[in-house]
Amino acid sequence: MIDEIFERNIGYDEKSKLCIDKILVSEKEIAEIITDMAKKIESDYKNKKVLIVGVLKGAYVFMSDLTRRLRLDAELHFVSASSYGPRSKSSGNVELNDFKPDEDFSGYDVIIIDDILDSGNTMKKLREYFNGRNAKSVEFCVFLDKTAARADCVSAKYIGKAIDDAFVVGYGLDYREKFRNLPYVAVLKKEVYM
Ligand code: IMP
Ligand code: MG
Repeated sequence: MIDEIFERNIGYDEKSKLCIDKILVSEKEIAEIITDMAKKIESDYKNKKVLIVGVLKGAYVFMSDLTRRLRLDAELHFVSASSYGPRSKSSGNVELNDFKPDEDFSGYDVIIIDDILDSGNTMKKLREYFNGRNAKSVEFCVFLDKTAARADCVSAKYIGKAIDDAFVVGYGLDYREKFRNLPYVAVLKKEVYM
């Protein structure tokens, strides 16, 4: 269905409206969440050697908004992880790609940033990975927390908003690589991905 909608000769706003059920987190709410979160992280990480790790691709918008609000002497790093592939349910198999694979993170307090915590498979993998590279501490910071599908006792220290089980897009989150650039988070219509 998505291909049929995107092939139509209509604007992007109309195309996305046809695919979206409702807006879940508005631009205004996003700005408020970022302000609160930045304050908490700043006070927790003052005077620490901070490494902020963004999980590509989904975290790119959230990480950009959040890090520009942090008055912290932080270093930035990126990894890419994918468990979904082209489908809309986690496969449980997380593939990780570190762009500086031989680096050692001794002495760093690591904050891993992701768009959404769903099954927790991605986080489990990343925690093992950074602990194995001698990080002093590893915490997670996610914009959304979807608790319904959580397999293990994985949790994030910083959570923007807890949401019910629905497939969401926008603010970095995609469906088949589309919708990442929507400035809000929206629930995708079931018929689009079913
Ligand atoms: P986890 O390993 O199941 O926790 O999956 C986390 C990753 O799955 C996130 O970084 C997203 O890329 C993706 N994901 C989970 N839920 C959604 C969703 O509702 N929309 C889009 N991507 C999602
Ligand atoms: Mg992701």
